[in-house]
Amino acid sequence: MKKTFTYTALAAFFALGAAGQAHAVVKVGFMLPYSGTYAKLGEAIENGFKLYVQEQGGKLAGQEVEYFKVDDESNPSKGPENANRLVQRDQVDVLVGTVHSGVAMALAKAAKDSDTTLIIPNAGADAITGPLCSKNIFRSSFSNWQPGYAMGPVALDKGHKTAITISWNYAAGKESTDGFKESFEKGGGKVVKHLTLPFPNVEFQPLLTEIAATKPDAVYTFFAGGGAVKFVQDYYAAGLNKTIPLLGSGFLTDGTLEAQGESAQGLLTTLHYADGLNTERDNAFRESYSKNFPALPPDVYAVQGYDAAQLLAAGLKAVDGDVTKKDAMRDAMRDATIDSPRGTFKLSAAGNPVQDMYLREVQGTQNVNKGIAVKDLADPARGCKL
Ligand code: PHB
Repeated sequence: MKKTFTYTALAAFFALGAAGQAHAVVKVGFMLPYSGTYAKLGEAIENGFKLYVQEQGGKLAGQEVEYFKVDDESNPSKGPENANRLVQRDQVDVLVGTVHSGVAMALAKAAKDSDTTLIIPNAGADAITGPLCSKNIFRSSFSNWQPGYAMGPVALDKGHKTAITISWNYAAGKESTDGFKESFEKGGGKVVKHLTLPFPNVEFQPLLTEIAATKPDAVYTFFAGGGAVKFVQDYYAAGLNKTIPLLGSGFLTDGTLEAQGESAQGLLTTLHYADGLNTERDNAFRESYSKNFPALPPDVYAVQGYDAAQLLAAGLKAVDGDVTKKDAMRDAMRDATIDSPRGTFKLSAAGNPVQDMYLREVQGTQNVNKGIAVKDLADPARGCKL
């Protein structure tokens, strides 16, 4: 009896050893902003990812995880070069990035050209899970369309009939405000003006003057990170919040509330995460995150990083950690049910989370959950053919 056990255990040891030699380590390449207006977002994503791996004892499906890092500076023109550092120089098995939609387009192209698995832990560029969708590309985050679309019915419900949209002039701003416009106008509202400024500029004053002169019922906005802090402060300082309610995708107030303070109080936003969900899963995540990163709020970016690691773990488990089995790994990722702090979700065929959109209200330093604005919202994946 004892002999048989020893033999089996030894055989298993050698079998694992053989496979393990070639793939004892999975190489993960973070391409994230570690400087500029989105620097905090990149940091939170990395923290979230590493936290999940740490909770698994530092290994995913028996594999050590080795990290490589590039600061993409949220600069699209450096995107191809930065992506190739990870793909060609570091030869990573999996790419995790990025925050900025324009940079993500370059990263998606590099991933496609090199057939590297890419998990996007933020950037919402609609095209990536639309016309450019691909079997090797996954998102643990959202499409820009999703939070914007969720706010339309909320604005209508509040009795707003006209709105101005305002954002940076790049994919995320355009697609978020387009999403809002789509559902707002479908329900009888009218977007009377779309105001923009170049990314990452923060000279909001002329645009605020135009909002004051136009007097819409509400304003819908996409800003995030450092720019969101400044926009909310300027809107408040101009006194506009007293007469024209400011609505936004939840990035406007996520990870930013300490800095925004009084200026953000009462703001309504829509997003796939909220504070105070008060589920067992979310409470455990928040406790663990706060223990490891006491100075940082457990925000949406941390959750998206955490879930990127969960998605990778699901793929690796299906192939016993053998990253060379790309098709089987990707099939498992596409089919996975992710036990996210935001609530469980699955991916659409295009690789984007199908998820609830919460309505949140700022109270103190919390984006308090006010209920689900739209349940199981799937991005339409327009133009995706797999
Ligand atoms: C984007 O560029 O897609 C983007 C950036 C920051 C956010 C959300 C979306 O918070």
